[in-house]
Amino acid sequence: MNQSLRTSFSVWLGVPLLIAAGILLLENYHNAHRSANAAHDNSLYASALAIADHVVLEGSSLEVDLPYIALEMLSATGEDRVYYKVVGEDSTFITGYKDLPEPVTGAAERSERETTFFDSRFRGQTIRIAKLTRSIHRQSRDFEFSVYVAETVGEREQLARELTTSFGSRFLLLIVIVVAIAWIGASRALRPLKRFEESLSRRSYHDLRPIDVEVPAEINVLVAAINQLMERLQRSFSEIRAFVDDASHQLRTPLASLKTQLEVAVNEPNPETLRSRLDELLASTSRTGRLAEQLLVHARAGGSHDFEQLELNQLTETVVRGWVVSALESGIDLGFDRSKAALSVRGNAALLEELFNNLIQNAIQYSPSGSQVTLRVSQTDACGVVEVIDNGPGIPEALREDALRRFRRLGPKHLSGCGLGLAIAKDIAEVHGGSLLLCDGPGGIGLRVRLELPKIDPATGA
Ligand SMILES: Nc1ncnc2c1ncn2[C@@H]1O[C@H](COP(=O)(O)OP(=O)(O)O)[C@@H](O)[C@H]1O
Ligand SMILES: [Mg+2]
Repeated sequence: MNQSLRTSFSVWLGVPLLIAAGILLLENYHNAHRSANAAHDNSLYASALAIADHVVLEGSSLEVDLPYIALEMLSATGEDRVYYKVVGEDSTFITGYKDLPEPVTGAAERSERETTFFDSRFRGQTIRIAKLTRSIHRQSRDFEFSVYVAETVGEREQLARELTTSFGSRFLLLIVIVVAIAWIGASRALRPLKRFEESLSRRSYHDLRPIDVEVPAEINVLVAAINQLMERLQRSFSEIRAFVDDASHQLRTPLASLKTQLEVAVNEPNPETLRSRLDELLASTSRTGRLAEQLLVHARAGGSHDFEQLELNQLTETVVRGWVVSALESGIDLGFDRSKAALSVRGNAALLEELFNNLIQNAIQYSPSGSQVTLRVSQTDACGVVEVIDNGPGIPEALREDALRRFRRLGPKHLSGCGLGLAIAKDIAEVHGGSLLLCDGPGGIGLRVRLELPKIDPATGA
């Protein structure tokens, strides 16, 4: 998901804080409840004690000698209703609210100082009850009685709620502040990105200088990567520009000469001469056509191409076959040496055929009649190797690098060609992750052009 850094930062901070706050609030409510209970239980106990002190024995029956009004006073405390009951032995009712409930067995929350505290329901309300049990000793007999004092829990609940709410709202405020700080902090931290974006979008499309803005270390990696890309783009742009300059220069000359030849032909009165001028024109036109075609191949060789798995022996054999007739006409002995094992590479068949065609054409073209030209396929541990070997004039070592540049022609200028063959071959080799080397022919005679391509396992294709 394309989420803003600021949002995810705040969410990652806010959500865990909210969960923590929830847990703390629950605990806080529980504690507040317990404290409120403890405080109120004490006053219930005090009331039960006060009533118990006024239980007296009249004859053999127990009575409470507390004025009714004093008992009613109890119920006048605060918001809550207070109820009481006194029972004698075997739960015989003495005074108070008769139906005040007994503790359910096991429900007692705590017991101390002869008193049991427990929660129950009475007249539709939740109440807290303290039950104090005592006995009066008289005539070697124990008269046991219990005093119940109950109170609705409204006030304690309210106290617990108030404590919790005030704690909760403070905590919530804190979370809001923390998230706001995170949001602002993230915004500030991201501000350099904005500057970065501005400096990029202000640029014209041909400005490929490195970006120079102050950014935090984390973003610097990104800037460095973009700058590297810019550098590569710059290099390939200047290569393209150089190529266009070269190409237009190279095309202008033959086109100008075509025009001159045509002008001469147009004014030629003699049909015989006209005929030979037209033949020359045809030859020049096809040379120019070939040049344009080569230029296009060269321009495209550096681009991206579909690669497939290819078997080098098969591919080169087809190419060599195509040159048999032409070699025969030139008096060249054209040979083909396949490798012992099959040899697979990843490549573009059309481009590789172009490469081999160029090499064989050169070997046939520049070697005198009676020479031998051999295409040999072999392999090293990592590479497939194709060598085109001739025993013609060769290229002196000092000139080999130059021969690989485009539009460089070293040999006799009358031979057709535009100086692109080797440059194209080298480009194609590089597009395939391989290399093209000019070496001495066998025994130091002639030229050996060595192409190395990374080989692959035909089973896995890797
Ligand atoms: N097999 C070869 N033997 C001798 N010289 C060669 C051979 N191949 C290429 N050359 C030299 O290298 C130059 C560049 O070759 P290339 O790029 O194919 O251009 P072109 O063949 O159009 O001149 C050629 O002009 C030629 O002088
Ligand atoms: Mg050539």
